[in-house]
Amino acid sequence: MADIGSRKADHLDLATQGDVGFRNRTTLFECVELVHDALPELDVAAIDLSCTLLGKRLAAPILIAAMTGGTERAQRINRELAAIAEERGYAFGLGSQRAILKNRESLATYGVRDVMARGLLLGNLGIVQASKLSTAEVRELVGLVQADALCIHLNPAMEVVQAEGDRDFRGGLATLERLNSELGVPVIAKETGCGLSGSVADRLRARGIRHVDVSGAGGTSWVAVEMHRASGANKALGETFRDWGIPTAASVGLVARRGFDTVFATGGIKDGLDIAKAIVLGASAGGIARGALQALETGGRAGAVQFFERIEGELRTAMLLVGAKDLASLRQAPRLVRGELAAWLTL
Ligand SMILES: Cc1cc2nc3c(=O)[nH]c(=O)nc-3n(C[C@H](O)[C@H](O)[C@H](O)COP(=O)(O)O)c2cc1C
Repeated sequence: MADIGSRKADHLDLATQGDVGFRNRTTLFECVELVHDALPELDVAAIDLSCTLLGKRLAAPILIAAMTGGTERAQRINRELAAIAEERGYAFGLGSQRAILKNRESLATYGVRDVMARGLLLGNLGIVQASKLSTAEVRELVGLVQADALCIHLNPAMEVVQAEGDRDFRGGLATLERLNSELGVPVIAKETGCGLSGSVADRLRARGIRHVDVSGAGGTSWVAVEMHRASGANKALGETFRDWGIPTAASVGLVARRGFDTVFATGGIKDGLDIAKAIVLGASAGGIARGALQALETGGRAGAVQFFERIEGELRTAMLLVGAKDLASLRQAPRLVRGELAAWLTL
């Protein structure tokens, strides 16, 4: 079994430089048209991007989504991105905390509370690992990093392509229900690039889950990441399923109707206009993983800050041009949903 450290290093290298996007599948945000308002009667500087998510105030509806932990490089990335999140009023997600279970010394690589004293911090654990732990053990993992909420990630497509991945996914829903009722901090059911369907959303709601991150298709393909690491039959499986998943815009549209308190729209968000469209479709905030990593690793801290300034500027511009003074008005903005996205939303 490849050790977690070398797998994490592979993931960071592939996510930074590799060919790990979807081939022929997009987020479908291009199927959403927002209607131009030539008389917005707004002062750009007064447009309010703030929101409250999971009990914490954010200056803008942006999540730097879960990526890493467990290695020295991961520690630097977590700390730099968490500090930017704190400074700019975004939420920040730690990568899977599985490494802490194997090696307590790796805890420091998840330590960001000293640079993110107040902001919304999300812990992270895979569903299969969570199923094997008692609620008290999971609570301890959350406490160790001082997270405000815990993402439980769902990634069956990635696991089956990974040679050393999990194969038995039974009991996931019961685990989510147990942790949701016993943990003491909010639980977020999070995909990792294949999206959540309306049916999954219904099953989650029926078990009391109130927060989700759709992490849909069209951005980073985790099947592609694992395909590059695999050989033989696993590589071939990865080739076949590289484009598997529900496009992010479709997943947001399907899930948002189910009455969740929080819907993070992660998966291929490339600009602030995509975030605006996600919010129009019912998301609470947009999440970005690989784009943030690439901005940081190619441009350093200044590059990452510039990346997020651009995203926020684009979101603000989209709000001006539809005449929305705040996120509540943006949610009501007229929209046209075309083609393939319209078809998905009939499901
Ligand atoms: C390098 C890297 C590592 C990731 N590790 C995790 C993880 O540990 N847990 C998790 O829930 N998601 C993980 N993800 C998935 C992201 O949170 C996100 O759902 C997915 O990459 C889609 O977003 P994107 O298109 O903006 O990259 C990782 C993503 C990247 C790029």
